[in-house]
Amino acid sequence: MILILLGPPGAGKGTQAQRLEAKHGLVQLSTGDMLRAAVAEGSEVGLKAKVVMDKGELVSDEIMTAIISDRLNEADTKNGVILDGFPRTEAQAASLDEMLATKGLALNAVIEMKTDDDILVERITGRYTCANCGAGYHDSFLKPAVEGVCDKCGGTEFVRRSDDVAETVISRLKAYHEQTAPLLPYYRNKGILKQVDGMTGIDDVTRQIEAELQTI
Ligand code: AP5
Repeated sequence: MILILLGPPGAGKGTQAQRLEAKHGLVQLSTGDMLRAAVAEGSEVGLKAKVVMDKGELVSDEIMTAIISDRLNEADTKNGVILDGFPRTEAQAASLDEMLATKGLALNAVIEMKTDDDILVERITGRYTCANCGAGYHDSFLKPAVEGVCDKCGGTEFVRRSDDVAETVISRLKAYHEQTAPLLPYYRNKGILKQVDGMTGIDDVTRQIEAELQTI
């Protein structure tokens, strides 16, 4: 199965992708995570990307398409993937169609996580992740069972993203509305767009996505 989770920053794409990965054996391909790994390595791509990400703008289509194309050639993606953060522009969507067609594959569904902009700043500025395993948490909405200890791996160190500050979130939302939201009619016209209400609780969003997957 090949799924896209589409929605603005903070809509819950990463949270739900981790759950889909655990339940369905799909592989989460988060372009944001891949770029942050490149930044941490200090690679040439990472150095270029950091400047753009810290401004809340989009990294070039050329770089993003090359990253995803390489990743889709790896063996662990054969049983299916959840694309989290890609595509984000019409050019990326067209490249993805070409990549999949070359492999004789096609998208099964694009799930739009509908959210109002005004709650997203609170969601993003309260987010943190386990430094060891990457499990995601939130200061108010998703705390670990034992404060300061990761539910998944028992890690006790947590990190916050450098672009999770209010001013950058506003630029990221602008980029979403101007460059990514136009993909919604593109996928609606292909008949594969599904919508879930991303404003409800995390478990409820998971239930809505699972219900949509039953219709595929
Ligand atoms: P990326 O890492 O993809 O960030 P994003 O799209 O801005 O999305 P987020 O990760 O911020 O949000 P999310 O929807 O995953 O929300 P989450 O589940 O964490 O990209 C970062 C940057 O990289 C971009 O700005 C760009 O520069 C670059 N980039 C990446 N891909 C690119 C591409 N293809 N092309 C060009 N540039 C690219 O949830 C947020 C918080 O809310 C969490 O704490 C969570 O616990 C909580 N939460 C989640 N769901 C709920 C709920 N239903 N109720 C209450 N709380 C909730």
